[in-house]
Amino acid sequence: MPAPPLRLGVNVDHVATLRNARGGERPDPVRAALLAIEAGADGITAHLREDRRHIRDSDMARLKAEISKPLNFEMAATDDMMRISLATKPHAVCLVPERRQELTTEGGLDVVGQHNVLAPFIARLNDAGIRVSLFIAADPRQIETAAKLRAPVIELHTGAWCDAVVDGHSDKAEAEWQRIVAGAALARSAGLEVHAGHGLDYETAEKISALPEIAELNIGYFMIGEALFVGLAETVRTMRAAMDRGRRLAPPI
Ligand code: PXP
Repeated sequence: MPAPPLRLGVNVDHVATLRNARGGERPDPVRAALLAIEAGADGITAHLREDRRHIRDSDMARLKAEISKPLNFEMAATDDMMRISLATKPHAVCLVPERRQELTTEGGLDVVGQHNVLAPFIARLNDAGIRVSLFIAADPRQIETAAKLRAPVIELHTGAWCDAVVDGHSDKAEAEWQRIVAGAALARSAGLEVHAGHGLDYETAEKISALPEIAELNIGYFMIGEALFVGLAETVRTMRAAMDRGRRLAPPI
């Protein structure tokens, strides 16, 4: 079977970061989402953090109401977020770890350690017809446990790999890359749909697009930064082209 099509999810969190720097309404992350979709994004991702540092509750509601492509609602596994996600009814929920002091989502969710808390949480979302994705490191124990938790999707955390590439630490980059390659294959063989994200830029997105197990990339920070210079539509088109170049190298699955 040829490698399946690869979707691009654009994360609009950092449009909201910029807006919140002045506390008003502009720039509007929903406008960015609509523009990204027009330019070729297959879906929109937004993370409603506990401290509401970027996306607000009203952004999530407006994204759900206004965009024509799937909404991927990133959140921590808390009662408050359960309530909001059930009310929002997004296409997907991606469960992520959250610590207030972190600058970004620094590690994967520990699905091994939190198995007993996550199992009923995931079951409720499954029952509501929301596709659950678990944001985890490419670690065999985490992947095997994710499969047992009955979440249909995992998203592999690519942050450590991308940081090592950008920092020029080639040994570390290669080791992290091999973990991702092995993790994607293991997850797929366990019946999981595999997504990936965090820290991706044109170069790393092109490379990871050649892994046939990966069905979706979720990319935000780099693209919103790049959009300052060339515009968001151009950034989405350039990212799409990088992913398509990578995908052409993917072996059949
Ligand atoms: N996927 C998940 C689960 C994330 O938490 C994030 C960051 O919010 C991303 C993808 C996108 O990462 P980046 O903004 O570094 O591209």
